[in-house]
Parts: sequence; C-alpha cells; structure tokens
Amino acid sequence: MKNLEWGKMSFSYTKTDYIVYSTFKDGAWSAPVISSDFNIALSAYAGVLHYGSSCFEGMKAFRGVDGKVRLFRPEENAKRMIRSAKFLDLAAPSIEQFVQMCVMAVEKNAEYIPPYETTASLYLRPLLIGSNPQLGIRSSAESTFIVMASPVGTYSGDKILVPGTAVIARNHDRAAPNGSGSYKIGANYAQSLHPYNLAHRQGYRELLFTDALTHKYIEEFGSSNFFAIKGNTYITPDSDSVLPSITNASLRTVAKDLGMNVEMRHIPVTELAEVDEVNSCGTAVVITPICRIDDKVRLEDENPCHVYNFTQECGVKSRALYDQIIGIQKGTLEDRFGWVMFVDC
Ligand SMILES: Cc1ncc(COP(=O)(O)O)c(C=O)c1O
Repeated sequence: MKNLEWGKMSFSYTKTDYIVYSTFKDGAWSAPVISSDFNIALSAYAGVLHYGSSCFEGMKAFRGVDGKVRLFRPEENAKRMIRSAKFLDLAAPSIEQFVQMCVMAVEKNAEYIPPYETTASLYLRPLLIGSNPQLGIRSSAESTFIVMASPVGTYSGDKILVPGTAVIARNHDRAAPNGSGSYKIGANYAQSLHPYNLAHRQGYRELLFTDALTHKYIEEFGSSNFFAIKGNTYITPDSDSVLPSITNASLRTVAKDLGMNVEMRHIPVTELAEVDEVNSCGTAVVITPICRIDDKVRLEDENPCHVYNFTQECGVKSRALYDQIIGIQKGTLEDRFGWVMFVDC
C-alpha cells in the first residue's frame, strides 16, 4: 500500500499508476489497454471536443474490515452508462466489458486503495467519449472508453456527515423537461458550473435546482440527489429530469428494510417547512446533511426570500441509513441485498 496521507484526502484528484482504455472502431471494441500514460491522443476534430459527446460514471472500491476489496453495485453504473450512451447515440461497452475494465483499474491501482480504518476509498471514473474526427453535427461513429482511479476522501476531508448549507437557484436551470437531466452526460455539468461557482463564492456547499417548467418543485443538487425525512417517511423527488442515483435507490431499499415509508413524488419547495431532516446523496459522500436552505429569487441576490432550517447535526434517521450503506460497503454488515462485488487484489 502506498504511503499517502489517507486521513487528509478530500474529494479531489490524486495521481495513480494506471488507466485502462478501449476503443470502438469499425463495429468492434479493442482489447482493453493498460497504460501508465494518462495523456490520450485525440484529433482536434474529435466529436467530444465540439459537440460534447461525453458521458461518465462514478463508483468506489472499498477496503473492508476483513481486508477484502469490494465494489458497490458496479453493474448499475454499467447500465446507467449504457443508457447515457444511447441518449448520445454513442457505442457503449457491454455490462461485462464495463465491469471487467473497472476491476482491472482497481487491480492495477490496488496500492492506492485506502486502509479500512479511514473514510477514504478508491474512486473510479469510467468515461466514454466520441473520439473520431468529424465536422458535421452528428453522433460520433467511434468512441473511447477509459477507466481512471483516484483515492478520495469526502468533501470534508476525513470527517463524515458534516452538515452544509444549500441555496435554491430559481433563475438557473439544470435540465429542461424532455431534456438530458436523467443522463450522466458531461453537458449537464457544463450547464451547472457557472451557478455552482456563484453559490460556492457565497459560501454555500450545495446548489439545489428546481423543475425548469414551474420552478415550484425540488429536483436535485448539482452533483447529488435530494432526500428528506418527514416523520417516518423518506421522500425524494420523482422527476424525468433527475439523475437516477444509485445511492438514492440503495437508500430507499434500506429505508424500507428499516421499516420506513418511502415516497417518490413531486416535492414543492414550500414543503421544506414541514420536513425534519434534509440530505444530499451520492457516491462521493453517501449522504451529506443539509442544515439550512436559502431560497433566492435570483442566485445573484444578496438576501434570500425565505430561509429553511433543519437539524444542525445529521438527523437520527439519516444517520441510521448512512450506517447501513457504509456497513455493507465496508463489510461490517451482511450484504443482504447482494450489492457487493469482491475484487481479488
Ligand atoms: C447530478 C447528480 N445527481 C445524483 C448523483 C448521485 O448519483 P450516484 O448515487 O449514482 O452517485 C450524482 C453523482 O453521480 C450526480 O452527478
């Protein structure tokens, strides 16, 4: 194992030793290539550089209490990438190829899998791009699939469940109705960079988007889903323009298993006044408690028109959900839903 400052890691890039890639050309994928050169050669005419033909995934490998290495639901990431690629009309790797290359990336970078005792893990970033030279606006005929790996901590370093604030931006939309919001494509993130920068400059951790049609209903945060706890009920938005988070789906299963009610439905912003616990959820942190949400007419405004306050520490029910997911990921709890895949390294 590398001698890195595991406890000081945040959710940022640390160089590892290898990437794994494969290219789709003339109707077939090449055999996976393991490379220590992280620079990839692309024509300046490659479709991804002009027309944004890019989708990606994010998942983690954990070192468990038993020393074994576990991937969490990699097939779900594979299916989501295939769905995103279909939206872009890009050739995608099969589930088997996707998982095989992720496993190779973990094996080749095994020395960067953080120790069990830390909150850090090895983050995998599978990326699929349109890579042939082209000028006309059309989907790329050739694609390149790359799996990268980087050890990461949480957004709060080695601390977990540190509450943060969020701001609602009604004058910036993440995704249009009938648009691309439910796909994990690069373009959705390009769209959110500017409002994210504005929110961060104002000291907010998260940016909460509403539905682009009415701006009345909660959609999701810029890089994670929204869920709230209301009494004994887990509520999360039902929307065609929200990314189907694998963490959120797992939390819903666990919530039901713990005897909670689960509702996926429209959530009016005003309902924030009635909920007990609010969180963002996603691979990066499992959950992040949100202690306050400011509602602004315009993100650029100095003052919010409404402020919603929640528990100042992670709520009891949210904590219980977090413990279940982390327990399964790190092998301290039984994998009773069959979510874990072992990697022999
Ligand atoms: C926009 C957005 N929503 C939700 C999520 C959470 O999804 P997952 O739980 O699959 O990581 C992410 C992160 O991947 C995201 O970028």
